[in-house]
Amino acid sequence: MMKKSKPAIPNFSHMVHGADYNPDQWLNHPEIIEEDMRLMKLAGMNSVSLAIFAWKALEPAEGVYTFEWLDMMMDKLYENGMKVILATPSGARPAWMDLAHPEVLRVNNRLERNLHGGRHNHCYTSPYYRKKTAEMNRMLAERYQNHPALGMWHISNEYNGECYCENCQKAFRQWLREKYHNDIEALNEQWWTYFWSHGYSDFDEIEVPSARGEHMVHGMNLDWRRFVTHQTKEFMENEIRPLKEITPDIPVTTNMMETYAGYNPWELAGSVDVISWDNYPAWHENTRKDWEVAADAGFNHDIFRSMKKKPWFMMESTPSLVNWHRVNKLKRPGMHLLSSLQAVAHGADSVQYFQWRKGRGASEKFHGAVIDHVGHEHTRVFGEVKQVGDTLKRLDEIVGTNVDAKAAVIFDWESRWAMNDLQGLSDKRNYEQTCKLHYRSLWRQGIAADVISQDCDFSGYRLIAAPMLYLLKPGVANRLKEFVKKGGTLVTTYATGYVNENDLCFLGGFPGDGMMDVTGIWAEEIDSLFEGQVNSARMDLGKGEKTYQIQDFCERVHPREGCEVLAVYDSDFYQGEAALTKHPYGKGICYHMAARFETEMLFDFYESAAQEAGVRPTLPISIPEGVSVQARESEDTVYYFIMNFNHEPKTIQLPDGRALTDMDGKRLFHADLDAFDVMIAKERIQ
Ligand code: GLA
Ligand code: ZN
Repeated sequence: MMKKSKPAIPNFSHMVHGADYNPDQWLNHPEIIEEDMRLMKLAGMNSVSLAIFAWKALEPAEGVYTFEWLDMMMDKLYENGMKVILATPSGARPAWMDLAHPEVLRVNNRLERNLHGGRHNHCYTSPYYRKKTAEMNRMLAERYQNHPALGMWHISNEYNGECYCENCQKAFRQWLREKYHNDIEALNEQWWTYFWSHGYSDFDEIEVPSARGEHMVHGMNLDWRRFVTHQTKEFMENEIRPLKEITPDIPVTTNMMETYAGYNPWELAGSVDVISWDNYPAWHENTRKDWEVAADAGFNHDIFRSMKKKPWFMMESTPSLVNWHRVNKLKRPGMHLLSSLQAVAHGADSVQYFQWRKGRGASEKFHGAVIDHVGHEHTRVFGEVKQVGDTLKRLDEIVGTNVDAKAAVIFDWESRWAMNDLQGLSDKRNYEQTCKLHYRSLWRQGIAADVISQDCDFSGYRLIAAPMLYLLKPGVANRLKEFVKKGGTLVTTYATGYVNENDLCFLGGFPGDGMMDVTGIWAEEIDSLFEGQVNSARMDLGKGEKTYQIQDFCERVHPREGCEVLAVYDSDFYQGEAALTKHPYGKGICYHMAARFETEMLFDFYESAAQEAGVRPTLPISIPEGVSVQARESEDTVYYFIMNFNHEPKTIQLPDGRALTDMDGKRLFHADLDAFDVMIAKERIQ
């Protein structure tokens, strides 16, 4: 296996320390721009993401172009040692465009056309906007193709949302025609439009899903999400085309958003060279511990790493706080370095911020930035940013190294759409949270895990957790069976394999599409529990006999021949029936959790399942609660990140007989970590 993917990202051989930089807001203050150059160097920055929402400054009136300020900025940034990640400005538009070409404005789900304002707010089908963005991008590429500062293209900004205008409706119908090969009866069958007499006789009769109209045909809703994904991707590819034509060697990225559900980001991944995403965990909440927030952040990082299994960029994060959480907390001292290095630990080759300097007005004026309104470097936040800059400078040897995961959690966008849309079970379905809890059980043991979609290749893993994989696309059941047959360990749960790719229930028993063979069970029915109602099951997961609580869901399953029952329900009319099963299949094993167990059960379960599957923690050490251990590997060196997300210090004994050193080669025997502290240790392998 290729462990090192150097040069992972052309033009970036150092750990990137950068920020969104919007000098177009400061063009009337040249002294501030001058001061920015001094401060950027002082903070140890080596990159900026430039001109993200700068359309008005680039084209103040239709056909009138003013690139001079950008020329000046590109030169200035280059002279000051900054690599520029240059943005295409499609994320927002000047008023003149919306007034002159209203077709670019979005139409909402109630079929009303929006007014000018906000971001995106654009129709991704609009012929005018597609032409206009491609022209603008061509101009940028032609102008800066040979500029030495240009390192990467930042395509738009956080594509999101959807449009229901006439153009989009037409495109939707066309997309459906292609998908169903012009056969309206095929669509009727897959959407099950026989129900409530909703059948169509022609594709032209189809409207978009709308709160005012059709919105309970689940197959239609799914196809709409896929269509939105397709249009977003096409819009993005239309933006990329002129850039690739003129600057084939400049990588392109687009900054993605956490677990944003509006489209499937996996479908966009193939069209960019570098994966990047914007990371804004809500540290220091009152309902979750910081280490739980950290585990969830790890889950997000690992989604984006898994898209290309390569180093990625953390395009945005805040140096202090955001302005859009319900309660906007300051990052406690130390948390900035810790959370920045957490991204690096999970494979990021960058720490970047939104944004460099706080604006004076409008909605983000109180969002954290490196430079505050006070305008100088004598702030706590600047000090912490500089500390990150100083630290990253010493990590260049980690650039391009990878994370090697033998475990994976399937968190699938399409299955999630169907699960969220489902009418039934209870409102506690919480698919995303459930996947995060399964992931957390690996994270806390220091086991590296990919977070993948059901389309991914399963063959490199030893353990796959597939919680609530409700929707199975064609071929997935077979690939999971192959995975287990060849020796893999698969974990399935209640609500697995109920529907096909178009949300039609499988006939002949759940889990469908042949999954009964591998799980060794037939799931006959599922009971949902009210808040406060619990069941339980007693079992030995390697920690002695324990009784674990069950909440929310109890599936009634029938073990088939050869399937072992590891635990049974303690109460209710299904008392004594299987709650956890183990089914040897080929050379591997499939576990089925029929019920939603408490977190402690997941922890104990995954500890023993991982051990049995031969999935080892990154380091053989005992990890206290709240400490995370992650590793990146090159061909000859492993870099361990030992991170304390606790509010109190922790000391960890490093393994005996292993020559772990700090980055300077000094031998390490234990990690003495303060609250919110991080240590990087390295070890030569071969
Ligand atoms: C997003 C956007 C940025 C900014 C930040 C604020 O990530 O991309 O432009 O609005 O949120 O947190
Ligand atoms: Zn539209």
